[in-house]
Amino acid sequence: MARALRFYAVFLVLIAPGMSAFSQASVRYLADKKLFVLGSASTTYIFGVNERGELQHLYWGPHLWRDEELAAAHSPGAPIDISPTAAGQEFAGWGDGLYFEPCLKVTFPDGNRDMVLHYFGHDIAGNELTVTLKDIQRAVFVNLHYTIDPATGILRRDAVIENRTGGPIIIESAQSGTWYPPQGERYRLRYLTGKWAGEWQLNEETIHPGSRILESRTGSTGYYANPWFALDHPGDQDPEHGSVWFGALGWSGNWRIDVEETPFEQVRVTGGYNTFDFAYHLAPGESLTTPPFYAGYTASGIGGASRLLHRFERTEILPDSSGLRTRPILYNSWYATGFNVNMANQEALAREAASLGVERFVIDDGWFGERNSDRAGLGDWFVNPQKFPQGLKPLIAYVKSLGMDFGIWVEPEMVNPDSELYRKHPDWVLNFPGRPRSQGRHQLVLNLARDDVKEYTFHWLDRLVTENDIAFLKLDHNRDFSEPGWPQVAPDEQRNLWVLYTKNLYEIIDRLRQKHPKLEIETCAGGGARVDLGMLHRTDQAWVSDNTDALDRLIMQDGFTYAYTPHIMEDWVTDVPNGIDGRTVPVKFNFLAAMEGSLGIGADLNRWNTEQLTTAKRMVAYYKTIRQTVQNGSLYRLASLRNGGNFAASEYVSEDSSQIVLFAFLHSQEFGDVLPPLRLLGLDGQALYCVHRIDDTLIEQSAMLSGDYLMHHGISLRLTGDYGSTSLRFDKVSAK
Ligand code: DGJ
Repeated sequence: MARALRFYAVFLVLIAPGMSAFSQASVRYLADKKLFVLGSASTTYIFGVNERGELQHLYWGPHLWRDEELAAAHSPGAPIDISPTAAGQEFAGWGDGLYFEPCLKVTFPDGNRDMVLHYFGHDIAGNELTVTLKDIQRAVFVNLHYTIDPATGILRRDAVIENRTGGPIIIESAQSGTWYPPQGERYRLRYLTGKWAGEWQLNEETIHPGSRILESRTGSTGYYANPWFALDHPGDQDPEHGSVWFGALGWSGNWRIDVEETPFEQVRVTGGYNTFDFAYHLAPGESLTTPPFYAGYTASGIGGASRLLHRFERTEILPDSSGLRTRPILYNSWYATGFNVNMANQEALAREAASLGVERFVIDDGWFGERNSDRAGLGDWFVNPQKFPQGLKPLIAYVKSLGMDFGIWVEPEMVNPDSELYRKHPDWVLNFPGRPRSQGRHQLVLNLARDDVKEYTFHWLDRLVTENDIAFLKLDHNRDFSEPGWPQVAPDEQRNLWVLYTKNLYEIIDRLRQKHPKLEIETCAGGGARVDLGMLHRTDQAWVSDNTDALDRLIMQDGFTYAYTPHIMEDWVTDVPNGIDGRTVPVKFNFLAAMEGSLGIGADLNRWNTEQLTTAKRMVAYYKTIRQTVQNGSLYRLASLRNGGNFAASEYVSEDSSQIVLFAFLHSQEFGDVLPPLRLLGLDGQALYCVHRIDDTLIEQSAMLSGDYLMHHGISLRLTGDYGSTSLRFDKVSAK
């Protein structure tokens, strides 16, 4: 409700008196030309009904303001190709000679597989447009929903496929829609790929005719690719200027984005459920809703595209008003105590954490069942009596007495074969009868598509949170699907689990949040394998990677921010040498790298010496003065370590422009090289900024620097040796 009101409020601002007729409405239908026009102050999106009855895409780009010059949709045809192939359809069924990626592919019980969708009707309710399509003969209807966020111009669309035929149908492809950047231009595609301990790698490539498929087949969002894309022109070098079309899917199961360039020099981006192994049995009278697919346009380069997405995520995606608050500084015990958690060692860590200024203490894996390693106990969600003889309450009380709130790790979708739960319910896991049940991290995947498993899972989570004063859940997911069988239902319904598993997971989280409105949740999946706009719609923060080496993290964090806001980017300081790669970086470097998002600490603080603890305390105090800007401000990526870069820098400007935060990192000085001046972005040139230093690396000695100096002359940083780092805070004191 709060979200809806906020959305409406921004909408009202946009229709203030004095604005042109065109920009007044976000969603309009021009009946004489059969055109749908969705617009914000910065962008316009147009499609129409052509003479064949197809819904044809017409325009997506900078804002247009004159209705008179808009032409009706007209099917272009082609000398040889059958028409649907040539017309850029908003949502094409596979039929009637369509040779590019369809949005809907269906098999009927009689073997018919032809699906030709034509305009049937539409409805505009405030800011929401619904266009209904129908097959030319059969009672398959598709309701396309569109909304546009007036503040960012980001569109949201999904499709609801309704089976009113009276018999079942099998859906082999259900996409949310196809996006079209302008025809006849060359494009560069940016996308994110990765693996465990190496998530968030940014890729850039020129698009050529043919398809590039971004996808997950793992059952969840996955490490290997993330459901985000950005398109711009290959020659564009300035990250702050030039047109960018970008988008992201809100789905945490198997997903697919097909980026296709046709021989007609038209790039088409089609996304939704992964078609791999997809065969959704849709009973008569039922409907299937596709994932939301979000997309936006900016003329402010890839930097501007990220900032729009960040803002949209904070204001429209994150649950409740989570994105408007700031994240607490948390401590997590995983890297310090592993599975060996107990009352004494958690109390000792909590004491140290509190003395540094930490605000939330999180106990990780190992607190339940016979969970002494990753080989047993998963699924047995009762407190281990040897480790916590009086249950969790005394530890929670102690943590709270230290001024922190309490969080706990859970992994509800999984089970170790060596567990009471599995011994009791071996049929609850994904499996094909008589076939091996492949284990990953010694665990199997519970089939959440089953309603009994869903209910069981919701109830133990609810009990845990009801009986204990728990402010935060770290929701983990440590293996991908294998043998995705569901033997309890008919063979032709088994593959519905690709959809139902994730829908039921969402339902569990939604019900939990509804019942415990103050509960906060982190999405974690053996690192950063489940971060997407669907999961972020119901969680408050995201674990980026199990790799906490600060140098690797700088690259991953940089990649992460192309798609996701620093607000949710959970970064911890852990011990050195780092457990993944053995690298040792200074405490300051470690802290500053973790401050690029939401700061956490995961080190074994009991082993830290006084000097380390003093630095840590100073860093935590500093972070508290900048976190509002870092988490909720505007990010400018100034330099990256990606592709062998030796220097990284990121800048954050607060929402009211009154504070600027800079982080700078040198990997390794070579040949006595001195860093060239670093120029900041997005400042008020006429303003004076008071400089706050955390060390003596800034060569400029003046207590004040002007916006013009910072942006055009640039500042000189004395970063030398290996792993030099600094942060500067600039507080605006006056405008000229
Ligand atoms: C994987 C997570 O990414 C880690 O942070 C930790 O919670 C472990 N699982 C615990 O098993």
